Amino acid sequence: MSEYEAFQTPKGVHDILPDDHQYHTYIKKVIRHRARQAGFKRITTPIFEYAELFKRSLGGGSDVVKKEMFEFKDKKGRNLCLKPEGTAGVVRAYIENGMNQLPRPVQLYYIEPHFRYDRPQKGRYRQFWQYGFEVLGESDPALDAQLINLAHKIHEDLRIDDVFALQLNTIGTIDSRKAYAQALEDFYVGKERSVPPEFRDLIYSNPMRLLDQKDEDLQILAELAPSMKDYLDKESIEYHEEVKEYLDELGIEYIENDKLVRGLDYYSKTVFEFWDKHDGAQNAVGGGGRYDGLVEFLGGQPTPAVGYASGIERIIANMKKHKVRVPAKDNLHIFVAQLGKAAKKKCLPLIDKLRDAGLKTMGAVGKGSINEQLRLANKFEVPYTVLMGLTEVREGTAIIRDMERGEQETVDIEDVVERLVELIGEEDLDKYSPSELLYS
Ligand code: HAM
Repeated sequence: MSEYEAFQTPKGVHDILPDDHQYHTYIKKVIRHRARQAGFKRITTPIFEYAELFKRSLGGGSDVVKKEMFEFKDKKGRNLCLKPEGTAGVVRAYIENGMNQLPRPVQLYYIEPHFRYDRPQKGRYRQFWQYGFEVLGESDPALDAQLINLAHKIHEDLRIDDVFALQLNTIGTIDSRKAYAQALEDFYVGKERSVPPEFRDLIYSNPMRLLDQKDEDLQILAELAPSMKDYLDKESIEYHEEVKEYLDELGIEYIENDKLVRGLDYYSKTVFEFWDKHDGAQNAVGGGGRYDGLVEFLGGQPTPAVGYASGIERIIANMKKHKVRVPAKDNLHIFVAQLGKAAKKKCLPLIDKLRDAGLKTMGAVGKGSINEQLRLANKFEVPYTVLMGLTEVREGTAIIRDMERGEQETVDIEDVVERLVELIGEEDLDKYSPSELLYS
């Protein structure tokens, strides 16, 4: 035992251990392929930005701004914040880098960690990974439908599409949204005593958020509150109808949910979330919508946009819950066991060649007996072990041992790589040729 106390992670964050990385790697691969197929390009914005960017984008009434920002000051007293979501940073980058000059729509995607000072619980962490897509520069219901389709495709690829129900709503154009928010404010004013104290400021800052809270009193009030439907203008209604037509055309099922408002202020028109069919809204796996006013609100030219983001931890939890396994790419092929320094010297270049050939190889470590090393090879669960002792060094050979059958063959040292490639099979190799992929 050490005399020192061991550290733990701060509350709400966790390590991604190798087993979970296999999920992360696979999911990222799916996202990259699907994004590229649909013409998206990858963007990475900084982990921290000026806090004001998020305050203005997400709105002072949003839970994220009110309670969940990891805000801090740098040494010059500038107010910074770890990014709680991806859209604001992408829009900031779009404006700052003059991306409005690019052919439209500009389609960007990201896969990154985000930070929210949330109350940690299952599926809710203080650092979490999100992948997201942002489509800027066009207002077209076909884009909203295509984005939803992309999200759905990724769920399909990961074999969890059956788990989620798509919840769909429109919160109308910015104008009709304003009119509706006013109507809601008028409705709640005078009923403050029925609104639990912790929600009262929402009446003025973001009354739509009063509609989708779990609190029972608020749910009763929400039933009586004016309905968004009555405040939608013609443009909002027509736009929404078209989104639905395209979704029908794509064969994507959805549930119309007129209580769905989303937690962030920048949305207008289409909003959607993927909910667990059984658990409901509690742990939405992803959500998004149109944000036609945000680019202008952050200082850019008026630019319509639509986007979506999903939490990777929640995706993984669902894959595990539904017993979807990913290929175990980290499994070793070969363990190289050696006896004596002379053999160890011969083993190092051999290991190098095995690895270059795409055989995942470990070994030439330690001073244990051959039997001890074989036991270690067993623990690493390799299908083959290469053994080299003094005799083999002298004769220029090596022994290849089939670990499952316990059978051995002696081969010329020059033929070891070729023989093992044959035994493992070309399709199983972890091969890549970096230099061939580069242009110069
Ligand atoms: P959001 O609904 O706040 O939207 O987050 C999207 C997803 O991120 C959630 O559905 C969930 O899967 C995951 N997530 C959020 N918070 C946590 C947490 N504390 N722990 C684990 N997972 C979490 C947005 O962030 C918008 N920027 C989406 C968007 C993009 N809208 C337009 N473009």
